[in-house]
Amino acid sequence: MDDNELTEPPERPSLDPEDWPAFRARAHRMLDAALDHAQGASQGPVWTAVPAAVKAALASPVPMEAEGTDRACADLLAQVLPYGTGNTHPRFFGWVHGAGAPGGIIAEAMAAAMNSNLGGRDHGANYVEHQVIDWVKKLFGFPDSASGLVVSGTSMATIIALSAARYAKAGYDVRRDGIRSDRARLVGYASSEAHSCIARAFDMLGLGMDALRKVPVDSHFRMNMAALKAAIAEDLAAGLQPFVVIGSPATVNTGAIDDLDAIADICHANDLWFHVDGAFGAVAALSEKLKARFRGIERADSLALDFHKWMHVPYDAGFVLVRSEDAHRNAFSLRPEYLTAQPRGLAAGNPWFCEYGPELSRGFRALKVWFHIKEHGIRRIAEKVEDNCRQAAYLGDLVSRHPDLELAVPVSLNICCFRFVAPDLPGPALDRLNADIVMDLQEGGIAAPSTTKIAGQLMIRVNITNHRTRLADMDILVDEVVRLGRVYGGWIVTR
Ligand SMILES: Cc1ncc(COP(=O)(O)O)c(C=O)c1O
Repeated sequence: MDDNELTEPPERPSLDPEDWPAFRARAHRMLDAALDHAQGASQGPVWTAVPAAVKAALASPVPMEAEGTDRACADLLAQVLPYGTGNTHPRFFGWVHGAGAPGGIIAEAMAAAMNSNLGGRDHGANYVEHQVIDWVKKLFGFPDSASGLVVSGTSMATIIALSAARYAKAGYDVRRDGIRSDRARLVGYASSEAHSCIARAFDMLGLGMDALRKVPVDSHFRMNMAALKAAIAEDLAAGLQPFVVIGSPATVNTGAIDDLDAIADICHANDLWFHVDGAFGAVAALSEKLKARFRGIERADSLALDFHKWMHVPYDAGFVLVRSEDAHRNAFSLRPEYLTAQPRGLAAGNPWFCEYGPELSRGFRALKVWFHIKEHGIRRIAEKVEDNCRQAAYLGDLVSRHPDLELAVPVSLNICCFRFVAPDLPGPALDRLNADIVMDLQEGGIAAPSTTKIAGQLMIRVNITNHRTRLADMDILVDEVVRLGRVYGGWIVTR
């Protein structure tokens, strides 16, 4: 470098606003827009498809030159804000989405202002995450010695939990050696109704998806305990190495609740790791009225759950809780020289969060969780869970009493699967009709259920994890399904 290159070019300020008052005024207007959006969450269509012009605008090339705050804000308001998933609306019933709560706007803004990295070190944000971890331990009856981590969601929590299980149960140093072909194959068990993120974790951990045995379910879609015992015995007899059983406090298709206590007994008897996929079901266990149905959750070796589903913390925020802090940290800790711990200063605060998962850089997700729980309290959050279960039962009742509708399976928690039936239509046509009803409901902005297949038949699947939903929304849904079904059914039959 010559001397000129070592002097600071005056025309290169930082990325901070050059005109702070103007930036502040603009930011206040944007905050108002965010609040208006949140306040109007129950109004308007549930979902609006992204117009072609907006898609084209969002396919424009990367700006090499500054477009400026005003332009970025204008584009955000025009191209992004109006086209959400729809899950803030009370009649969003698809998949398992939380509705979010406006307090998240405050927490997310503060987290951005602090721009903390929670991979490690000793700073205030970490103490917030530690408090969230302590709260979750208490809420689910885990010992103080347990460990936890705020993560993106249950999919990531499952990968972390099953890594810990694999490391603890393999019987050799699986981190150093990888999966050894000269050792018995590690196999695990979940019900045939368990979420696909478990098979994905088996895949990503090098275990192979076939190593996840899909245990048959009973008539209520719960894991069949006799079948679980038989599968373990069969694998042991074949020289394989069972290491984990995964229980679901609520399955994604129907909300079926596995017998967690019985699974814990079987794990205990066979020295297996007991993991619970509590994505949304675990939150129902926080309700005094419902918690008896989830007995056994407190016996898990690990628990995955989401704050962004039934707790309504804005996306994304999930959690992994591991009974043995040792097993958890041993599965992930890796501290090269430049990450060496120090007894004081910024490099203190050991162990670091990066020792409990695969991420070194970690954002301040914990803040919105902490803020949300402080703002609303667990009791109120749990009451909203109870409301949703009441709404699902009410919908199940409406469906059962309607001659044009058929309930797929009794409502067990917050999910109701049903379909419109037209006696003259053959199965495939009925499947198409119900799929069309769902797409029409979505495109019309009336409601947004999703579809699933139960016993080979396509069903309208209504999942209610939404604190804005009211009983009246069930009436609107049923009326519209029947109206559309009759239009389509009549049209198909007379064609
Ligand atoms: C039972 C269950 N497990 C796991 C997941 C995956 O959770 P996430 O989408 O937060 O990764 C879901 C998502 O709906 C779920 O319902």
